[in-house]
Amino acid sequence: MKEKIQRWDTTYEAVLDYPVPNNDLIRYRDLLPKHGLALDVACGLGADALYLADQGFDVSAWDASIVAITRLQKEAEARALSLTTNCLEITPEAFTKARFDLVYVHRYLDRDIIPAIIQSLKPGGVLFYQTFIQNTTIENQTTTGPTSKAYRLAPNELLSHCQALDVKLFLDGFTLNIKTGRLEPRAQSLVVAAKPDPL
Ligand SMILES: C[S@@+](CC[C@H](N)C(=O)[O-])C[C@H]1O[C@@H](n2cnc3c(N)ncnc32)[C@H](O)[C@@H]1O
Repeated sequence: MKEKIQRWDTTYEAVLDYPVPNNDLIRYRDLLPKHGLALDVACGLGADALYLADQGFDVSAWDASIVAITRLQKEAEARALSLTTNCLEITPEAFTKARFDLVYVHRYLDRDIIPAIIQSLKPGGVLFYQTFIQNTTIENQTTTGPTSKAYRLAPNELLSHCQALDVKLFLDGFTLNIKTGRLEPRAQSLVVAAKPDPL
């Protein structure tokens, strides 16, 4: 674990230009709550956490890389945005039940924490989860992401994790090309799903 995070630290030290937010987060922003308490799980440099803070969310951003978290905090200050950062190894115990209006996960897969993530949603709260899938043959471009299948989703896997939620959007192996208006192959899966609100 320590070595893995040291590799992330080295990667983040080498990043010169601050990354831009995930296009799909912006594209599907209207499926998310208008505001509230949001968590970016394994945020890295936190371009998406910054986007959510700019959108009016009260954002917590968690990652084990101290380099990423330090850079994110500085970047937030430079942009006059407020967010709460936490450098920690994310385990199920890190999550409190019914706390967040939005939990956002991008390019990170730890199956052990998924039940705790879902429990941490408030009733009506939304999960946005997007990461790499195991089937990389569908993509014509160079495949990105982890080489180990253990860190990539099986077909329909995200959907199966969301059985207790109301699924608003599920894309498995496709992305929408905004320019052409057509679906294109992509070795990622995306789910946006809400926790039912009994009220
Ligand atoms: C592929 S990056 C994704 C970062 C960001 N979500 C994005 O899409 O740009 C994976 C991140 O997970 C973090 N990470 C890996 N294992 C972790 C753990 N057990 N606890 C907390 N963060 C972890 C790494 O430090 C790294 O920033």
